Amino acid sequence: MSGGDWTIPQDWSTYTAEEHDVWNTLFARQSEMLPGRASEAFLRGLDVLRLSKPGIPDFEELSERLRTLTGWSVVAVPGLVPDDVFFDHMANRRFVAGNFIRRADQLDYLQEPDVFHDVFGHVPMLADPVFADYLAAYGRGGQRAGNLGVLKKLARLYWYTVEFGLVEEAGALRIYGSGIVSSRAESVFALDDPSPNRIAFDLKRVMQTDYRIDDFQQTYFVIPSFEELLRITVETDFAPIYDELEGQPDLAVETVLPADRLFTRGTQAYAREKAAA
Ligand code: PHE
Ligand code: FE
Repeated sequence: MSGGDWTIPQDWSTYTAEEHDVWNTLFARQSEMLPGRASEAFLRGLDVLRLSKPGIPDFEELSERLRTLTGWSVVAVPGLVPDDVFFDHMANRRFVAGNFIRRADQLDYLQEPDVFHDVFGHVPMLADPVFADYLAAYGRGGQRAGNLGVLKKLARLYWYTVEFGLVEEAGALRIYGSGIVSSRAESVFALDDPSPNRIAFDLKRVMQTDYRIDDFQQTYFVIPSFEELLRITVETDFAPIYDELEGQPDLAVETVLPADRLFTRGTQAYAREKAAA
């Protein structure tokens, strides 16, 4: 692929030994942390995609496995791409991934998604047939929302599911959002810290709620299952919700509403201490 779709060759052979080492270090510490914390679907994805093979994955090899499982493939891009390009790839089951990796002195924090966030964080869930359908449907929903000029609302659904989602499994909370599973600190914070709210997923509520991009989330939303997430998002026509939300104020990140079904009412102590520092 080339031309207007923003994809570039991954150039797998040009990664240095140090770059592969950064992947291996991040992989070792996250995979040690995740059993019992990450969703079974995520853990299964790591396994069936053989992501434990040392070194930064070769997208061609990875895509071959993924294509067989769910029809998805992974394509390289230099960094963030325009929304319409992103949604077009997604609707066609191509996941765009940064091909660069963070430096060894940036293991815990970076601004732009790199290959560890994109591949370790996102791709295991794409091996799950239900989640794979959800993300492809989201791509089509993104094209529609772009035309309607309401991307900000839809982006919150992505944020609070694909990036920072929690799921209830066998009576306990598990993480599946890529931003959590790829972060050593947040994979503990999201489940164990008393600070954030953990609220049952509600589509309209999520699309009304701001999020923060600079620190741990102050609220996480919990889906009952991936089947239910897929069902509700595919069966619901979002256009009337966009219209309804148009006239309503956005909800601040820490908001708890009387109608919310709470798993945890957060103390917000972490955010308060951060703000005071
Ligand atoms: N049903 C949504 C719409 O009417 C499309 C969508 C599906 C969006 C799945 C996100 C996820 O726009
Ligand atoms: Fe991401």
